[in-house]
Amino acid sequence: MNASSELHVRVGKKTDEAVGIASFELVSEDGRPLPSFSAGSHVDVHLPNGITRQYSLCNDPGESHRYLIGVLRDAASRGGSAAMHDEVKEGDRLRISAPKNHFPLAHDAGHSILIAGGIGVTPILCMAERLALSGASFEMHYCTRSADRAAFRGRIQASGFASRVQFHFDDGDDAQKMDAGELLAQVRPGVHVYVCGPTGFMDWVLGKARSSGWPAEQLHYEFFGAEVAPSEDDDVFEVKLASSGRVITVAKDQTVVQALAAAGVEVATSCEQGVCGTCLTRVISGEPDHKDMYLTPEEQEANDQFLPCCSRAKSAMLVLDL
Ligand code: FES
Repeated sequence: MNASSELHVRVGKKTDEAVGIASFELVSEDGRPLPSFSAGSHVDVHLPNGITRQYSLCNDPGESHRYLIGVLRDAASRGGSAAMHDEVKEGDRLRISAPKNHFPLAHDAGHSILIAGGIGVTPILCMAERLALSGASFEMHYCTRSADRAAFRGRIQASGFASRVQFHFDDGDDAQKMDAGELLAQVRPGVHVYVCGPTGFMDWVLGKARSSGWPAEQLHYEFFGAEVAPSEDDDVFEVKLASSGRVITVAKDQTVVQALAAAGVEVATSCEQGVCGTCLTRVISGEPDHKDMYLTPEEQEANDQFLPCCSRAKSAMLVLDL
């Protein structure tokens, strides 16, 4: 992130929204309006412990006096969500990026189906606000393990679009549970589907959609970062820089980005978890071993680009457009 796109904000309010979920209202330090954003946007938050995490904005995109983010305390946190919950307090100052949007609404949709799983509600709620404001046709499905884990439930129920939202609780009776297969059984022209939530939930919903034949251009999704776990099968391989012909070895316990950095070659990164697309790099030859959640299955199959913050190689060498 360059310094000009960096924002200095203060935590105006920290609120417990549900079991394990807190919201943080971020306001500008000098009281000037914050840069505008569109539904589906996120900001990079630079945490006091030196790591950076992406959080979706979940307030009305018409607001310029604040950004609202929701953070789930992740039991497997590597320091991101735990630091937000335990170390960041009201009044604290934070550095954030300007909003970025990798999950925009398709404005020509005749109808939108918004599907949130757990903390995935954050961008989805922002989308619902925007669609409701513009008078667009939409429905929202919000799945959580139980009612007490459904953040922003009161806000949704008090909103003008409450009647378009269905809550689905895992611990509730079967009749209220979301049947993704049934919901997405028919591909409907002009209908766009948006999904955000934990990986297993996303795989389930997108799997049902794809098996019903929903084309990629009508499916929109955003994964939350999850650590890409090292695997037993991770092996040493080489990358070659097409511009100079230089060959760099990637050790078993190193990412491509780390190996390149150690050799003095910087690749811009943000999430380092294969979700944001910042490090996207063109592959000229060789076969990547895709471990990201950013590229579509079709894009991964094409093998002409990969995310070197997490993906590796199936071939002994990858020639990169660097
Ligand atoms: S840095 Fe986000 S996908 Fe690589």
